Amino acid sequence: MKNILLIGGTGFLGTAVVRELARRTVSADSCFTLPTRRRDRVKHLLVLPTARVVDADVHDPATLGRLMTGQDAVINLVGVLKGGEGEPYGKGFARAHVELPRKIAAAAKVAGVRRVLHVSALKAAAEAPSGYLRSKAAGEAVLQDAGLDLTLLRPSVIFGPGDAFLTLFARMARIAPFFPLAGADARFQPVWIEDVAAAVADSLLRSESIGAAYDLCGPTQYSLRELVSYAAAVSGHPRAVIGLPHAVAWLQAWAMEFIPNGPMTRDNIRSMRVASVCDSGCTLPFGRVATALEIIAPTYLRS
Ligand SMILES: NC(=O)c1ccc[n+]([C@@H]2O[C@H](COP(=O)([O-])OP(=O)(O)OC[C@H]3O[C@@H](n4cnc5c(N)ncnc54)[C@H](OP(=O)(O)O)[C@@H]3O)[C@@H](O)[C@H]2O)c1
Repeated sequence: MKNILLIGGTGFLGTAVVRELARRTVSADSCFTLPTRRRDRVKHLLVLPTARVVDADVHDPATLGRLMTGQDAVINLVGVLKGGEGEPYGKGFARAHVELPRKIAAAAKVAGVRRVLHVSALKAAAEAPSGYLRSKAAGEAVLQDAGLDLTLLRPSVIFGPGDAFLTLFARMARIAPFFPLAGADARFQPVWIEDVAAAVADSLLRSESIGAAYDLCGPTQYSLRELVSYAAAVSGHPRAVIGLPHAVAWLQAWAMEFIPNGPMTRDNIRSMRVASVCDSGCTLPFGRVATALEIIAPTYLRS
């Protein structure tokens, strides 16, 4: 596979996937096309010789059609954590997680691109408690019904340098004397970004992944309270974590929805009602062994 279109390939995970694919690519004429809404914010990708960053609105079917032409595979990594309120999900979730996959499926068919990899989220389900997880499930269903050579990847929360998770907790610990925490007992099984990127690259290169859906988790389950305490302590600012009662957490999240880039929404709290853990233990496809959080996190949280 020489030509790969990575939609949502300019973000946290996409950057790691592009680097992993570039590392494994033997052909100098390979090309990874990365559409973005904000080229000025992805300068780190412009230096990769095989990456072609293009300004594009992937929601526009004609643009998507042009991007799709001549590709051997498409990887969709677009995801939003804030999509508004609504049933079964808010408009932002509908646009990014459901309508976009529908447009991708249609454009892929027209361009004759059969191979599609789609990054969803662990515990995506039609009956899930949050719009985020319900819309992720609807996006999966759209692609599954489209008759493509599809692989689904469903990670738990992803950690690594630049994450919006442990790094955020470590930063907050520098300024906050203690942590009033919503969803303190929520369960996660964080997975290292390089393990997720490797799972995407492995899946792309191995035909047995066609038709498969992989849940991606690290080796250990934690409560959110444990993760926040850990990030604060490792970054050199140990802090007490105080779990907020549900009603207070709900009010706090509602208030934060009015802040641009606020860290929490009511829908995020609903997502945390389901444990983001792999029911079959620690799983990565193709026999890959997941890397422990305690090995990686100190390398970037301490700085
Ligand atoms: N990070 C995690 O812990 C985690 C856990 C589970 C699942 N996932 C899933 O993994 C995927 C990648 O996550 P990430 O953490 O890498 O996200 P990210 O850093 O926020 O990157 C999101 C990417 O999607 C694009 N994008 C965002 N909103 C868009 C929109 N409305 N229309 C078009 N493009 C849009 C961005 O492109 P621009 O260059 O245009 O901004 C960017 O390339 C997502 O599907 C996410 O749901 C992530």
